[in-house]
Amino acid sequence: MLKKESLNDTKFNLGGRFIFFATNNIHKFNEARAILAKFDISVGMLRVKNFELQHDSIKEIAQTSALEIFKRYGLPILLEDSGLFIDGLNGFPGPYAAYVYKTIGNSGILTLMDTKTTRTATFKTTLVYCASKNNPECFEGEIEGEITNKKIRDQSIYGFGFDPIFQPVGSPKVFAEMSITEKNLFSHRARALHKFAIWYKHFNK
Ligand code: IMP
Repeated sequence: MLKKESLNDTKFNLGGRFIFFATNNIHKFNEARAILAKFDISVGMLRVKNFELQHDSIKEIAQTSALEIFKRYGLPILLEDSGLFIDGLNGFPGPYAAYVYKTIGNSGILTLMDTKTTRTATFKTTLVYCASKNNPECFEGEIEGEITNKKIRDQSIYGFGFDPIFQPVGSPKVFAEMSITEKNLFSHRARALHKFAIWYKHFNK
């Protein structure tokens, strides 16, 4: 992980192709690193606090945040924003997922779902690559699934956030029951990262 002080050290050599995934979430970073490694793309975690604005578009949130972080550090930045859109709740919490997770959490979501017969939901990500202030590149990823209420055997082993209650279509497991490798076969983030990696390899030969 890179601290801000290191960035001010003139001896610190960022050499060529290194890019920085700006997040406070080590799980997101580990998922990203696993995918990018397959494409031989080196990525470091840039831990940045309190940069996320509230908006009803995850694309707007991700673009604005990436640009701000790029301006602050002058480094090639990857940044993503995700939202959980639950059909039975008219798309709630959507882009406000982080706040809802912090306030009512998974148990609160399950309570809201108690009377719902439709349990389908979509996880969406916008991933932004920003290496100049003029044209941040956006990559979208999404996965449909269901909000489950099955008891997770050991939630502490895998995942974070809504992983214990989200079961992607085509899997017998919720995200929290999957290793990073398994989750990366399905997830919204993995899909956006694949798009990015293919684009990056093409334009950074
Ligand atoms: P963020 O604003 O992109 O960090 O994410 C919004 C909320 O969704 C946060 O509470 C995250 O913990 C949660 N979240 C984002 N991605 C995932 C995921 O892959 N699995 C489970 N929860 C997630």
